[in-house]
Amino acid sequence: MSFTFSNENLLKIEALKKRYPSPKALTLPCLWMVEYQEGYISMDAIEEIAIHTDTPPMEVYRVATFYTMFHLEPQDKRTVQVCKTLSCKLCGSDEILAHLNKKDLNIVHAECLGSCGTAPVMQIDDVNYENLTIENVDEILKALK
Ligand code: FES
Repeated sequence: MSFTFSNENLLKIEALKKRYPSPKALTLPCLWMVEYQEGYISMDAIEEIAIHTDTPPMEVYRVATFYTMFHLEPQDKRTVQVCKTLSCKLCGSDEILAHLNKKDLNIVHAECLGSCGTAPVMQIDDVNYENLTIENVDEILKALK
């Protein structure tokens, strides 16, 4: 299997190259482009990113594996990241997690999602959902189907 960036993403890469000090700085934007284009980041995509960023493939791989939001395998279930850091934990993330674990979802325990003042928080497809309760979690999931 091979990977190629879409024409739209190739144009974005060329535009971004003018804004960043070095091609290597494009690693994260390229990983996001692949994640949105394919739904996961294959080894072929990592090699393609390495070419565009003039970075060794292993270095791109290390970046991809460092961040929990990147998927390295095709996903058969919706991924829900649930914050388990202090503010969310104090505001009930354990109950939210227990509730979500009963559902057919890929649950990821995330560190702070940057919205501590509206804890507890979960993130689905790059969108934060805040002030969670058992009831509104069910409403959110139902609206996403
Ligand atoms: S502690 Fe959960 S968003 Fe910051």
